[in-house]
Amino acid sequence: MDRFLLALLMLMLAQWAAAATLGEGKGRPARELNGREVYVQTCAMCHANGVGGAPRPGRAADWAERKPSGTAELLVSVLRGKGGMPPKGGNASLTRDEAYVAMDFMLNGVK
Ligand code: HEC
Repeated sequence: MDRFLLALLMLMLAQWAAAATLGEGKGRPARELNGREVYVQTCAMCHANGVGGAPRPGRAADWAERKPSGTAELLVSVLRGKGGMPPKGGNASLTRDEAYVAMDFMLNGVK
C-alpha cells in the first residue's frame, strides 16, 4: 500500500479512537453531568433569583409548600415542566438522572 495512504488511514483511525473516547458525535459529553454542573448550566438562570416565581435554593420559605409532596413528585414537575418552567428546565438533552441530581443539588447542596 502507498505509504501516504497508510499514514492517512492511521490518522483517521487515531481521530476516530479519540472521538470515541471523548464521546463525540453523540452530541453529549462521555459522562453525565453532576448536580452542580446541571444547576449552573440549566437551572440557575431562573432559580438563583426566583425568576417567574421559581423557588430559590437555600430559602426554606420558597420550598415549604413543595417539599412535602416528595422528591418523586418534584422530579415529575422538572421532567414535564410546571407553570413557568419548561420540561427539563428547557434543556431537552438532560437525562433523568441529571435532572434528579440538579434537583437534589437545589434542595440540599446550596447552603
Ligand atoms: C425558565 C425558568 C426555569 C428554569 C430554567 C428551571 N426552572 Fe424550575 N421552576 C421554575 C418556576 C417558575 C417554578 C415554579 C412553577 C410553579 O409552581 O408554577 C419552578 C419549579 C421548580 C421545582 C418545584 C416543582 C414543584 O412541583 O413544586 C423544582 C424541583 C424545580 N423547579 C427544579 C428545577 C431544576 C432541577 C431545573 C434545572 C434542570 C429547573 N428547575 C430549571 C422556573 C425554572
